[in-house]
Amino acid sequence: MKIKLKVWRQKNKDTKGAFKTYNVDHASPDMSFLEMIDVLNTDLIRKGEESIAFDHDCREGICGMCSMYINGHPHGPLQTTTCQLHMRTFKDGETITVEPWRAKAFPVIKDLVVDRSAFDRIQQAGGYVNVNTGGVPDANEIPISKRIADEAFDAATCIGCGACVAACKNASAMLFVSAKVSQFALLPQGQVERMERAEKMVAQMDAEGFGSCTNTYACEAECPKGIKVANIARMNREYLGAMITSYDASSGGGGE
Ligand code: FES
Repeated sequence: MKIKLKVWRQKNKDTKGAFKTYNVDHASPDMSFLEMIDVLNTDLIRKGEESIAFDHDCREGICGMCSMYINGHPHGPLQTTTCQLHMRTFKDGETITVEPWRAKAFPVIKDLVVDRSAFDRIQQAGGYVNVNTGGVPDANEIPISKRIADEAFDAATCIGCGACVAACKNASAMLFVSAKVSQFALLPQGQVERMERAEKMVAQMDAEGFGSCTNTYACEAECPKGIKVANIARMNREYLGAMITSYDASSGGGGE
């Protein structure tokens, strides 16, 4: 199949970028989107031109690295990662527009590669368990209901790709942060520090320059792992609890 690609090219974060058009004449419908760019890059290198920079690692839908905006959607028209998107999704002769994530907190490093270290800093701000939980207990020793285990697992499937931020008109990171808050807050080991953790992660999220949530649900619709906005409601409850608790402590415990 033949494809026309309009790709965002940008040398570095300090230079202005622009779209450049390329023709890919021998794309197989069974190629992944990244393999199609590999073919184009091989051609560009042969011609002595600079290849297109893009992020990738596992190519199995696990690592969340392959962030790019395809035809107006994060990761393209299907609710999956770019590495799991195949060329058969597109029509022969189609023009496909490819851009990097657009968000102040994700500056473009080069072409389609953005700096997503803001997500790492949010997780570092509170996303781990500090308390001594002893040795590794047997799996069945701490009873956890199936519903709670499933909800925690669903939250933990977030791969931190940033599609939620890219999909949101406010560039809000609340779906990502709420998934990370939830995966710990739901399980017994993470409950000791749950409120403090939510408070610190939300503070870091704001400091990184992400926008606020205005409930458009675009994040849930585009998330390749189907993370639910119910996690945002949980994070808001955790955060509110943290605020009330710290107000209570600072006012001498009387709560007046
Ligand atoms: S390259 Fe790892 S999720 Fe796509």
